Amino acid sequence: QPLLIAVAVLAYLLGSVPFGIVITRALGLGDLRKIGSGNIGATNVLRTGNKGAALATLLLDAGKGGIAVALARMVAHEDAAQLAALASFLGHLFPIWLGFKGGKGVATFLGTVLVLDWRVGLVCCATWALTAAITRISSLSALVAAALSSLWLVVFNQGHMILLTVLLTVLIYWKHWPNLERIKAGTEPKIGRKQA
Ligand code: G3P
Repeated sequence: QPLLIAVAVLAYLLGSVPFGIVITRALGLGDLRKIGSGNIGATNVLRTGNKGAALATLLLDAGKGGIAVALARMVAHEDAAQLAALASFLGHLFPIWLGFKGGKGVATFLGTVLVLDWRVGLVCCATWALTAAITRISSLSALVAAALSSLWLVVFNQGHMILLTVLLTVLIYWKHWPNLERIKAGTEPKIGRKQA
């Protein structure tokens, strides 16, 4: 299946663009890997104090996942769209450009789900936002949104994607292990707390 291989490779390459690193470097905001949690995502970009850079990282990290899915859907079929979602997500988590040490995948996950099924995507974003409004903790919001994503799929009759969301959720939990430890210890920082 050369077409599927091409879709997967292209989606991986799209997902592997570390926008957080690119943007913070371009703006001279310092080495993101030495700031806050050291993660390359929007939450950590926000710790530089630059809200615009954080928003741009969020939109571009989500956008690359969404674009990968939309492109796959255009050139192939629905299974290819799911493959592109997985490949772009893996690209963000394991980018070849950063020695396979990438991010935690939350924005890219939300971007792919939004394009796979916009209703499920919107409810996942709303779950994240509601948890964030209550707890002010980004990682916890991501963990709640990821865990509930499979439930929302069933609610919206999209159970055929459940293997994908379960797999992405497991990877998100694995990547958030240090966050989980901090949440348990009560030391996880709140959103936007500036941290050099
Ligand atoms: O999207 C990543 C977020 O859930 C946690 O980021 O930097 O607090 O580990 P961070």
